[in-house]
Amino acid sequence: ETPADMINIADFEEHARRTLSKKAWAYYFSASDDMFSKVFNHDVFAKVFFRPRIFRDVSKVDTSSSIFGVSTTLPIFVSPAALARLAHPDGEKAIARACGKQGILQMISNNASLKYPDITSAKISSEQPFAFQLYVQNERSRSVEQLKDVVATGCRAVVLTLDAPTPGKRELDERVGREEVRESGLADEDDDSEPLSASSGLGDKEAAGGGVGRALFQGTAGDLVWDDLLWLKSLLPVDMKIILKGLQSVEDVVLAAEQRDPKTGLKLVDGVIISNHGGRAIDGAPAPLMVLEELRLYAPQVFKQLEIYIDGGIQRGTDVVKALCLGATQVGIGRPALYALAGGFGESGVYRAIQILREEVETAMRLVGATSITQLGPHFVNTSQLDAI
Ligand code: FNR
Repeated sequence: ETPADMINIADFEEHARRTLSKKAWAYYFSASDDMFSKVFNHDVFAKVFFRPRIFRDVSKVDTSSSIFGVSTTLPIFVSPAALARLAHPDGEKAIARACGKQGILQMISNNASLKYPDITSAKISSEQPFAFQLYVQNERSRSVEQLKDVVATGCRAVVLTLDAPTPGKRELDERVGREEVRESGLADEDDDSEPLSASSGLGDKEAAGGGVGRALFQGTAGDLVWDDLLWLKSLLPVDMKIILKGLQSVEDVVLAAEQRDPKTGLKLVDGVIISNHGGRAIDGAPAPLMVLEELRLYAPQVFKQLEIYIDGGIQRGTDVVKALCLGATQVGIGRPALYALAGGFGESGVYRAIQILREEVETAMRLVGATSITQLGPHFVNTSQLDAI
């Protein structure tokens, strides 16, 4: 199989299921508890219907977009996801090159399997944009050091993830972790039994039996509050944006929009990613599309105050177009980028996955009767089933 054999995003998942190590598959695929939120993140898109318009010249469509002032060729970014080297030795570098060639933004995880400067050094041009996702550490000085590296390497935004003060209960990941421990006999000899784990980036966090997710979260702060935003702001150059990730309620988006620096009066938050961590935080969290619709109905002012993005369950060009019609500026993909690395595909797999989404977005726009991203709006969708949830 080659990347060219993949015709939709689900094909990449199936390919990954067949080719990834058991541990990598368990870590990537898993979500919390009964996986209601993970499944619904995608299924909810079936509750939104288009209101297509006809007799329009759709021979040319323009999918260009922007995210916090950075121009991109598609309204899609790669969400931050840990440990890409579990899927391919080039890991996050392969994703960086594919994003560069496709002209979209990559958000690099705090828990990436390569160091931030090594990943960004794979960029295909000096202007290629990156954002860095931060998990503030209990030992704050660690985060301060990390941010120094990120700032020095040129980075457009810090994405502060807030939906995981503790990891959700990801049972597949946990189960495979326990099996590994049983099979290798001694927990701390575990490294030699898995060819990729030594280089996966887990480093000193490799812990026995709890699964990869739990090991990764060791040291992550669970005590952050709104006031900590000022601390974060003080560590960044003035032109670097702050994006909050993992908002799951109208109230928190409104609060994010209200945050200001008391000295300058300037806004502290430039954008928010409505996300439930791909169903990996609290099971039963609303699908991001539901929160987006609640915002549209109950707090429409926020769309003027902040850029709003969603991620979770995006698998189709029509998903992207529906989210944009409901007010999202861009949408993120998490697992699809990781799955696309698998089975030796690396950069070419991720490139192909983005290309598939590009073609699907273009087709959806043509069929709905829109020729540019700015034309997309609620007039193109029927949300009566979504509103009934
Ligand atoms: C994630 N996600 C995540 N988010 C984050 O802020 N920092 C991280 O390190 C990670 N790591 C991570 C690893 C894996 C394997 C997955 C699947 C997810 C969440 C990610 O950014 C995103 O919110 C979801 O993946 C979006 O859902 P989909 O696209 O996977 O359905």
